[in-house]
Amino acid sequence: MLLNDEQQAIYDGAKGESLAKVMKTLVMYGDTFGATKMVPVESEYGHLVTSFGLSVIKPVYALMDKLLAAGAVSKQKFTVDPLPLDKNVPTNFLQDIMFKIMYGKQDFYNGQLQKLGILDEKSYTCTCYMEESGNAPKEGQVLSWAESSAVVYANSVLGARCNRNSGIIELFGSIVGFVPYFGLLTDEGRKAKWIIEVETTKKPEAQVLGSAIGMKVMEDVPYIKGLSKWIGTELNQASKDYLKDMGAATASNGAVGLYHVDGLTPEAVKLGEKLINSNAKVYKIDDAELDRVKNGYPIIWKDKDAKPKLAFIGCPHLSVDQLNDWTDKIVSRLAKNGKEKVAVSLVLTAAPKVLDKFKGSDNAKKLEKAGVVISYICPLMYMNNPLCGKMPVITNSNKLRTYTSAKYMTDEEILSAVAGEALA
Ligand code: F3S
Repeated sequence: MLLNDEQQAIYDGAKGESLAKVMKTLVMYGDTFGATKMVPVESEYGHLVTSFGLSVIKPVYALMDKLLAAGAVSKQKFTVDPLPLDKNVPTNFLQDIMFKIMYGKQDFYNGQLQKLGILDEKSYTCTCYMEESGNAPKEGQVLSWAESSAVVYANSVLGARCNRNSGIIELFGSIVGFVPYFGLLTDEGRKAKWIIEVETTKKPEAQVLGSAIGMKVMEDVPYIKGLSKWIGTELNQASKDYLKDMGAATASNGAVGLYHVDGLTPEAVKLGEKLINSNAKVYKIDDAELDRVKNGYPIIWKDKDAKPKLAFIGCPHLSVDQLNDWTDKIVSRLAKNGKEKVAVSLVLTAAPKVLDKFKGSDNAKKLEKAGVVISYICPLMYMNNPLCGKMPVITNSNKLRTYTSAKYMTDEEILSAVAGEALA
């Protein structure tokens, strides 16, 4: 890999041993993927995926301490993935003890993040790119991020350029201000190897469509046709929310880091079918294919017919519009069933700054009255332990379904369950 004078000097130790090690790690990472050079990180802010103070990840804390001692803090301020705990989210006594042990280093780790350069104490969310959270990179900017749902959104919907890096590697890029140039940073790497033809008779459930695409194309770039018929040709809040949820499913059920939507996403609007490789394969998705995909999800609850105990909506975190939309749907569905409170504990998750905007509104009061909890946590962090793993949890998130024992349900099925219909 060719380094310029500044990069070579850091590599050779001109800015200290720690920074040299950070640079060497990035060079090794780039070499593995055939990178030819290092390029500057251009976004205003970074984003870190490691948000949780798990007691067992001691090497991370030791590494952070070394970086801080050497003054190797992040060149750019950064946002971080959501926090794992919130006392408002229902737990039982055993879970409380378990969480205390598991996340025993949370306060210590939050302190390290502060010293390293977190934007502020309300910057814990995976949807950092939403207006309220203020970390939306501009089109064409090179990023050093790792959170898969945020990377795929930034690449596809915002037109920024970022590889699917790992945790810590993304921090290293933010510290030295350079990342290796390969993959989704290059024009060639952003070309589609798949054409997806959406031929459904109704608007596809975003999270099932994303799942189908992800499982088919894996890490390749898909060019999606036929979707603007259902979500339009304008990048407004509704289409952005749809793409956020669809993208997170492509990234977690497969390993997609970038997709193009014909007539909608920025590069597809500019370049159209020039973005498609000449030997691209075709995957047709109709109603039957979406049913096949959804029906193939394994249910790994101990008792497959158990009544759901808890429902999570908001992985990735919800927008204000989505919070409002869910409020309307929940309240009217409860009213239709002559009920005032949800029949299954329901948690809606969103970024702290999105919640700040929503709290105090009429809809927030309606949710509270209906017994719905709103929280800033990451449901995956809540679920990822043996106790919660045994609970019958339902979700409309295909990412949460993939990484935990939560059972996937469509929006309509969740609504029916929380209104007590499915349980009758
Ligand atoms: Fe976000 Fe956690 Fe889901 S980081 S995408 S809420 S798994």
